[in-house]
Amino acid sequence: MFKKIPGTKDILPAEAAIWQEIEKISRGIFALYNYQEIRPPLVEEAKLFDRSLGASAEIVQKQMFLIKNNEDLYALRPEGTASVVRSYIENNLDKTSGFLKVYYIGPMFRLERPQKGRFRQFHHVGCEVLGSQDACLDVEVISLAKELLDSLSVSGYKIKINSLGCSKDKEKLNKSLKDALKDKADKLCEDCQNRLKTNVLRILDCKNESCKRIVDTLGLEDKHLCPDCLEHFKTVLSGLDLLSIPYEVSYSLVRGLDYYNRTVFEITHQNLGSQDAIGAGGRYNNLVKELGGPDLGGIGFAFGIERLLLVSKLTEEKKNEPKLIFLITLGKAAKTRGISILADLRKKGVFSDTDYEDKSLKGCMRKANDLNARMVLILGEDELKNNSITIKDMVSGEQKQVNILDLEKEIKC
Ligand code: HAM
Repeated sequence: MFKKIPGTKDILPAEAAIWQEIEKISRGIFALYNYQEIRPPLVEEAKLFDRSLGASAEIVQKQMFLIKNNEDLYALRPEGTASVVRSYIENNLDKTSGFLKVYYIGPMFRLERPQKGRFRQFHHVGCEVLGSQDACLDVEVISLAKELLDSLSVSGYKIKINSLGCSKDKEKLNKSLKDALKDKADKLCEDCQNRLKTNVLRILDCKNESCKRIVDTLGLEDKHLCPDCLEHFKTVLSGLDLLSIPYEVSYSLVRGLDYYNRTVFEITHQNLGSQDAIGAGGRYNNLVKELGGPDLGGIGFAFGIERLLLVSKLTEEKKNEPKLIFLITLGKAAKTRGISILADLRKKGVFSDTDYEDKSLKGCMRKANDLNARMVLILGEDELKNNSITIKDMVSGEQKQVNILDLEKEIKC
């Protein structure tokens, strides 16, 4: 017997309704903010992610699902931002629409060690805005993320925010961190000792207790920010204040991907345990240029749908409203007549089904009950003879025989 590979999940029919609900609500919120959907391919040239996320990023180093095809190396996308930017440039959207607001919903792939809330195939609902560096846009994007959470019945989350500044500021931050940490290297975990050489900002993200203690002693502030970046950050924060969006400035928030600069944010939930980020995002003003496009700003975020499901109140079993009409036919002639009755109902837009398993009348009633049907139609020999049909209302329990010509009227379709 085959089994699914670790870190992947079957979304079974019983769960599909809640996924559809999350997608429906998200699409509604994105539309409200005038974002349109984009659907890039799930597979891209592996180099796209090396260039965007950075060769030293954990995702690139350890977590890529790679596919070798002769000389070409492809990767299942680990995230959506790089693909959206690639698509924007390749399709000349910078020349046609310039400023672009898009959203995406779909699977992402990372070869991580599976644990609660951490999968190898998981799903993002995310958005990207390309073509502006306006701080008010950062406010819109964060308020959109909040609106999404509120509409998905998620409460008790925390928005952490920081500014990494421009490339020069990031260099400055890198250097000051290296200086501050060089005498403490032997107290850092093995990974962070490597990060000190390759990607020092990542040390601020480390979950190891002794590294966290060292980071706490660094007294991080916004000193690395140049006047323009400081101004930008202040405008973002005052925009959030204006909208009464609660946030916490966290100077140790850096995010693990190279493309970020200026505003970065992360939304956490305490009920998630060690993988406590429901979503995250930020600005990437150099990425479009880095991938061969014009010098334009970009910002976006993504939520992990599996994690949203762990904290959303929507998950409390979503009982479908009874909609279905279940047709029970008794005997061969009735079964044949049933084919056209069902076809007519469906043409009228009535949700309907019948039995294909040769169940008894009792078995069919049980099935109708399991399917949460609102009505059962029974077509037996008697009904066929006098051109009628029996209708049982599953909510009130009432039962009556009606002329088949009155069926539509009776079931109010
Ligand atoms: P990220 O922080 O790597 O950011 O992922 C965003 C969210 O995806 C995380 O906060 C988490 O909820 C979920 N997630 C990540 N990895 C896993 C996993 N292995 N299993 C389950 N859920 C996971 C990005 O991907 C950026 N592209 C976000 C962004 C968009 N920044 C700008 N625009």
